[in-house]
Amino acid sequence: MHKISPSSAFIGQNRVFIETVSSTNEIAKEINRENDLDNGFLIWSAYQQAGRGRDDRTWFGDAGKNLLASFVLKPFQLRSDHLPMLNFACTLAALETVQTFLPQSEVKIKWPNDIMANDKKIAGILIENQINAGMVTSCIFGIGINVNQPTFPNSLPHATSILKQTGTEIRIEDVLEHICHRLEERMDQLQQMNYTLLHSQVNHLLYGKNQEVEFSQGTARSKGVIEGISTNGELEIRQGETIYRHLQGDIKLNVYGVNS
Ligand code: BTN
Repeated sequence: MHKISPSSAFIGQNRVFIETVSSTNEIAKEINRENDLDNGFLIWSAYQQAGRGRDDRTWFGDAGKNLLASFVLKPFQLRSDHLPMLNFACTLAALETVQTFLPQSEVKIKWPNDIMANDKKIAGILIENQINAGMVTSCIFGIGINVNQPTFPNSLPHATSILKQTGTEIRIEDVLEHICHRLEERMDQLQQMNYTLLHSQVNHLLYGKNQEVEFSQGTARSKGVIEGISTNGELEIRQGETIYRHLQGDIKLNVYGVNS
């Protein structure tokens, strides 16, 4: 049994459930454009016909088996150069949610923001921001958590779900309430500019930290040791005496054979 979190004050208070959508991120952006939604507005769904991942990938899942949600976040006076902190806040909220349901597992953040459980990807995050005059005006935080997905196609050998890890089905609504609560706590820390905490916790929970990894840049392949994530959200890799900083999209990371 999992304890249901106390309800959040603003994250997920206003919400819409749509049984089938193209993509919750797309719908959230569309409704937000037309209605200027409140901070914390939530759109969630049982099935996405065109679920989107990072780098133009698709997001897979059987109908009614997984958490598919997009939160409209409108942080107060957040400068665009502090966007990595918003990313850290969302990623930590996602990790904590997964960890609650997998108390025995090692749950980590694989740069830039995949959530891994026992070396397999259990959740993915797609954040899309709107910026005006150097300030973040709104952000769509899309999160997919594999909850009761029993199997994955052969093309996704490194994917897992809460069901696969524990053998037990859980209510998707419980996972949703947890993430609302966790996200609210993390957004509070962001608004209080508790950047040191967010940054250090992300680094503490980083997958592959201090390990030798392989990565590719275009066609070139290299090896190095993961040092951490910078305050700008770059991945820091040491090669000999030199530390290289990589932005998302810049490199493809391969930690223990798991590609980003
Ligand atoms: C990734 O790992 O590449 C990111 C996956 C993000 C998937 C979620 S599911 C809910 C929301 N709607 C989408 O279309 N994508 C995100």
